[in-house]
Amino acid sequence: MSLTLIQGSYIIAGLLFILSLAGLSKHETAEGGNRNGILGMGAALIITILAAVVGIDAANSADDRTGSGVTGLALLLLAMVIGAAIGIWKARKVEMTGMPELIALLHSFVGLAAVLVGFNSFFDAEHRIEQAGGIADNVADLAGSLGPIHSGEVFIGVFIGAVTFTGSIVAYLKLSAKMKSAPLMLPGHNWLNLGAIGLFLVLTAVFIKRPGIGLLVGMTIIALALGFHLVASIGGGDMPVVVSMLNSYSGWAAAAAGFMLNNDLLIITGALVGSSGAFLSYIMCKGMGRSFINVIAGGFGSDGGVVGEAKDYGEHREIDAEGTAELLLDAKSVVITPGYGMAVAQAQYPVAEITSVLRQRGIDVRFGIHPVAGRLPGHMNVLLAEAKVPYDIVLEMDEINDDLAGTDVVLVIGANDTVNPSALDDPASPIAGMPVLRVWESANVIVFKRSMATGYAGVQNPLFFKENTAMLFGDAKQRVDDILRAVQEKVASPV
Ligand code: TAP
Repeated sequence: MSLTLIQGSYIIAGLLFILSLAGLSKHETAEGGNRNGILGMGAALIITILAAVVGIDAANSADDRTGSGVTGLALLLLAMVIGAAIGIWKARKVEMTGMPELIALLHSFVGLAAVLVGFNSFFDAEHRIEQAGGIADNVADLAGSLGPIHSGEVFIGVFIGAVTFTGSIVAYLKLSAKMKSAPLMLPGHNWLNLGAIGLFLVLTAVFIKRPGIGLLVGMTIIALALGFHLVASIGGGDMPVVVSMLNSYSGWAAAAAGFMLNNDLLIITGALVGSSGAFLSYIMCKGMGRSFINVIAGGFGSDGGVVGEAKDYGEHREIDAEGTAELLLDAKSVVITPGYGMAVAQAQYPVAEITSVLRQRGIDVRFGIHPVAGRLPGHMNVLLAEAKVPYDIVLEMDEINDDLAGTDVVLVIGANDTVNPSALDDPASPIAGMPVLRVWESANVIVFKRSMATGYAGVQNPLFFKENTAMLFGDAKQRVDDILRAVQEKVASPV
């Protein structure tokens, strides 16, 4: 195997990753995008392992033939089998609604890996000095062995990795309800974050001139605390942005590890994940009416997004499955806005079936998807695609919002915060400023949920008390099944 072959394979893998991201940006091409990603990762993995085993260092353009050999290969394969077994077990076990916390946990591994790679690079430099007969804690020797650029890479890589590690652990704990989701509001919390970042910049300059393990450990502790504080100060309502931001951080941590290991592919892959994650965060910020600058400066949810006080909105109206079936059959246009409850109930299959029955009767049925509906980006789109709902009737919030006023019936299936009018008309609401689906502008709104409880952000929803809204209580799947049955009976024997 030659150096050219390795470098060529790295370029092909990098291109496949770019094609993968491009494919994943549209429903129609997402499957191909996934395939390209798997191919790219497979190629990268195989070539990296082979190169390590035979001892070719692509990054240093060197062919030293001092590879890790058969023992190294056996160890690598053993680690991969263990990792793959855990991965397959977790992926099969995890519910779709538990994906965000799993993703957060996986991001923490990337952060930890970057920290370990950084420390390893530092100790490697010490080891090289000792082998050359020098003294490992001699600052001048160490600075020479690490070199100023590599010192910077190690320090920055460990910093990003440590922030990602604790930030992701806190996100995991919050998302899995193992930690209070209310924001930790230390006095002057934004200044604490800025202070930590300022201190890190100063220490980086010092470390490049006078590297030492004390400085590295000290900065790691600061970065771990910063990661914890950044995410702990975020309220539940802003967690979607945190998840995508940590996704971005994990990409930069991987890129930093790539610099430390001199691995071009890791740098490219990390940068792709980092930049696409940052772009996703930008889209999410727009979707939630949050300032992107606040997010990257660590000042997200700056006033904490306190849960609103209970107001008396009056009485709500209820409807049953029969009544809903009648409304649907009389309608010319229907819009379905799904949310987290549809995922919990796994109601997407009967929802797809009812859509098909109504469309066969000439009723215009479309879906309106809020960018943060559910618990992870694209959550609703994945569920609807799984149930084979045609892509062309699944529209984004911005595409459907203006049509809602002319819609006969809107079915709000397990959605709450994403259809809450107080986001638009109550500046004191914790979700104030978040764009929402204006379902209340339609002629009839049916809300599917089990109780009058609040949604993820813990805010009461005045939509439930509007005159044109009726509540259909119960598990969303059971209720949609009931409606489907009622629709089919009415169609079979019209009165
Ligand atoms: P939510 O506001 O979370 O409300 C979901 C509603 O579903 C609840 O009010 C719940 O009411 C109902 N529900 C739960 N299980 C149900 C079942 N089996 N059958 C029927 N209804 C059920 O939903 P949303 O509108 O999708 O908003 C998403 C929220 O999550 C936003 O605040 C968003 O910021 C946040 N978030 C989003 C993400 C991403 S990236 N999408 C990540 C983290 C957090 P009952 O209990 O009364 O049934």
